[in-house]
Amino acid sequence: EKADLKASILEVNKTAAKYFYVQLKSERGKQAYTYLKNRELSDETITAFGLGYSNKYSDDLYKYLRQKGYSEDLIRQAGLINTDEKQGVYDKFWNRVIFPIMDVNSRVIGFGGRVMGDAKPKYLNSPETAVFDKSRNLYGLNRARTSKKPYFLLCEGYMDVISLHQAGFTNAVASLGTALTPGHASLIKRYVKEVYLTYDSDEAGTRAALRAVPILRDAGITAKVVRMDPYKDPDEFIKNLGAEEYEKRIGQARNGFMFTLETLEKNYDMNSPEGKTAFLREAAGRLAEFEDELERDNYTEAVASAYRVSVDSLKKLVVKMAVSAG
Ligand code: GTP
Ligand code: MN
Ligand code: MN
Ligand code: MN
Ligand code: MN
Repeated sequence: EKADLKASILEVNKTAAKYFYVQLKSERGKQAYTYLKNRELSDETITAFGLGYSNKYSDDLYKYLRQKGYSEDLIRQAGLINTDEKQGVYDKFWNRVIFPIMDVNSRVIGFGGRVMGDAKPKYLNSPETAVFDKSRNLYGLNRARTSKKPYFLLCEGYMDVISLHQAGFTNAVASLGTALTPGHASLIKRYVKEVYLTYDSDEAGTRAALRAVPILRDAGITAKVVRMDPYKDPDEFIKNLGAEEYEKRIGQARNGFMFTLETLEKNYDMNSPEGKTAFLREAAGRLAEFEDELERDNYTEAVASAYRVSVDSLKKLVVKMAVSAG
């Protein structure tokens, strides 16, 4: 029964995705199409990602799907409609650019919708349904899985993934408007053992990268962090500086652990002996968490060299921290 429901939701989603796509290419979708063109997406990219448009009528999709024979209950379980006492049944997505979200097998499991102006919320996403688990799917994975690169570029947004693919970085994926979870990490691990975090350059992006590094490490994935400044995100970076400069940034990516220390460093006055000592204690505490001895030694040496302290004294401090942590 559960399997039937899932198959039915996938089918209604697919029908909805096709409908959105046709609308985008129609007269009614002109503004949305222009919006995507202004964001420099090619027709090829629009088709490859199946982008669409949800009309400016409150129950346009609902009526279409009903007429196609889908039940109200199924359409609701797919997360495509809401009901309220005054309005009755109405479409979830209204006058938005639509990003169909596909699973690794290119089945449509949900949708993201973006307003074309500055209205809030900027993005609206399908609710979790019988087929849509945000913590176990990654946007772009259906395409990135066939990339030849031994690593993924992990970014924040749909537009980042699409811009990166269009620029030739077909190994880009994004979590679906949520923080990276261990579920995402184990999904990634099926395909690659290394991830380059290419999050937004704002504080939220930095925080998200700091949280992602240990989650990836726990899954056995090496994390590196790519700098996007002075631009906001990969989409804007690529638009302004191009693919070659982005490629250079990949080459300059910092090791996830060293990135973490560089971020922590900002909490200390590194010009005073007390501040630097306190920072090194915290660094040693984190080095002590490495379970692999060889890895711990190598990182200890890297930290000693980066912060110009003797390897011996740092190693002793790490051992002390390991003992006191039990
Ligand atoms: P653009 O402005 O279109 O370039 O989007 P962006 O991807 O740069 O947006 P941002 O960095 O603000 O957010 C990253 C991701 O978080 C988006 O792709 C969405 O998945 C999600 N997100 C952003 N804004 C909202 C919102 O208002 N509501 C929800 N639910 N998700 C959002
Ligand atoms: Mn979940
Ligand atoms: Mn952001
Ligand atoms: Mn953006
Ligand atoms: Mn962004």
